[in-house]
Amino acid sequence: MHYPWWYVPYLTSPMLIAVISVVHVLVSHYAVGGGLFLAVEVNHAYRTQDRKYLEYLKRHARFFILLTVVFGAITGVGIWWTIGLASPLATEVLIRTFVFGWATEWVFFVLEITAAFVFFYYWGRLPEKTHVAIGWIYALAAWISLVLITGITAFMLNPGAWVERGHQDFWTAFFNPQFLPQTIARTGGALLLSSLYVYLHASLTIPEAAMRDMIASRSARPALVGAVLVTAGGVLWYYFLPPSAKAALDAAAVLNVLVVLIFALTIVVFFLLYLGPYRNPGWLSPGFAGALCLFGIAAFSTGEFIREAVRKPFVVYNVVLGNQVRPEEVASLQRSGYLDGGRWTNALVQENYPQLIWVGSTDPEDIFLRDPHVDNRKLLALPVKDRLRLGAVIFQYHCNDCHAAKQGYSAVGPLLQGRSRELVLSTVKHLDSVLFMPPWCGRNAEAELLTDYLMSISRPRPAGMRLGLQVSEVK
Ligand code: HEC
Repeated sequence: MHYPWWYVPYLTSPMLIAVISVVHVLVSHYAVGGGLFLAVEVNHAYRTQDRKYLEYLKRHARFFILLTVVFGAITGVGIWWTIGLASPLATEVLIRTFVFGWATEWVFFVLEITAAFVFFYYWGRLPEKTHVAIGWIYALAAWISLVLITGITAFMLNPGAWVERGHQDFWTAFFNPQFLPQTIARTGGALLLSSLYVYLHASLTIPEAAMRDMIASRSARPALVGAVLVTAGGVLWYYFLPPSAKAALDAAAVLNVLVVLIFALTIVVFFLLYLGPYRNPGWLSPGFAGALCLFGIAAFSTGEFIREAVRKPFVVYNVVLGNQVRPEEVASLQRSGYLDGGRWTNALVQENYPQLIWVGSTDPEDIFLRDPHVDNRKLLALPVKDRLRLGAVIFQYHCNDCHAAKQGYSAVGPLLQGRSRELVLSTVKHLDSVLFMPPWCGRNAEAELLTDYLMSISRPRPAGMRLGLQVSEVK
């Protein structure tokens, strides 16, 4: 509301965050689990004096650093970039609440990167014990970064007691109800996912069967433990969902399908791990490891999608709504109007439609106290072209966070297919009758303008459908 809009065609800007963050998450969990793998295995190779294995581990470390430090850091910054543009109000809330957490996170991040570089570039030049110790410093620092970031992202799904007056401190925010479930799940995810990457890398780059078998069986246990932790964290996650998110999960057909899918995928991964690396290490061909990896990635991405989707209609539960409005602002927006209440929409109307502006509000209850005002009574007198234009503006600010327009992600054009104007207007005015949507935050005249725009992009009912006639239509 108080920030300008970022329009991303077809995809919508929050879905761009989703795409970047899924890619990032697939790498960042490896950054944690892979660090643990390297510390433990380098120690094992030193103890058994296995030169060949050490050589392999050095190659793996190189691949690991390129992927996690370079690609992981770029996508991580990519997330900050996109959330700041796509969800400025939610980002503002997170920054205000978690400055201290982020500062700490950066300290561990610097430690992590330094340790990673020392571990790799001083390979063979450090005493064995020191080299292993640096591996452990890396692994620990990476895990602490995971814990810190999880505290912040878990807050968005359920800030718990933080929303109550007098509890808006850092620790209440950080140790929110979702903190422990998500930390358990993500720790397990790090173990599981990194084992799957190790399998793929080993199966593709190691010609000797004996070494591949050894890696397969040594990494089977952390992978299975990881799968158990992911499942346990997932169950706790469900248990600590706010009621609205649980209801959303039950009500949406797409989410039902995805929940079944993620269960199926997890079971498949578990069985493949048990049958392959655990019981029959010799099975670790590139094909088998590749399939395992794909199933794992599919399960992960599905999980992240569900986790994101159940947050609607909020970006931060009970704190920021999906259309960048705070719940406590809704009532005043309904009174003053959506165009009037937003800093940028208000400026747009002032600049382009000076005839709609009036000055001199004496309303003591007007919390915006922002003169000049948009006169909602004059909106309906606008020519069609301008009604459509302002309708489109309202659409962008109020709906485009979750819906593309004519085509694209959850586009309203197809969603409204075949509906009468009356029905569309009523949909707009009763937006929150659909569980995932924020309430309508404007005046009736604005609902009319938005409806004009929606009618202009909605499609007629597909031709050739035989639904039968209603009694009133039978002549
Ligand atoms: C916080 C996200 C969010 C916002 C903001 C939002 N919607 Fe939705 N909307 C959803 C979700 C999720 C669904 C269900 C998705 C589906 O069925 O594909 C939905 C469903 C719909 C539907 C079809 C359901 C029905 O029976 O009416 C329409 C039409 C719709 N939205 C219009 C709008 C309009 C118009 C706006 C802006 C005034 C809007 N939405 C704002 C998330 C949102």
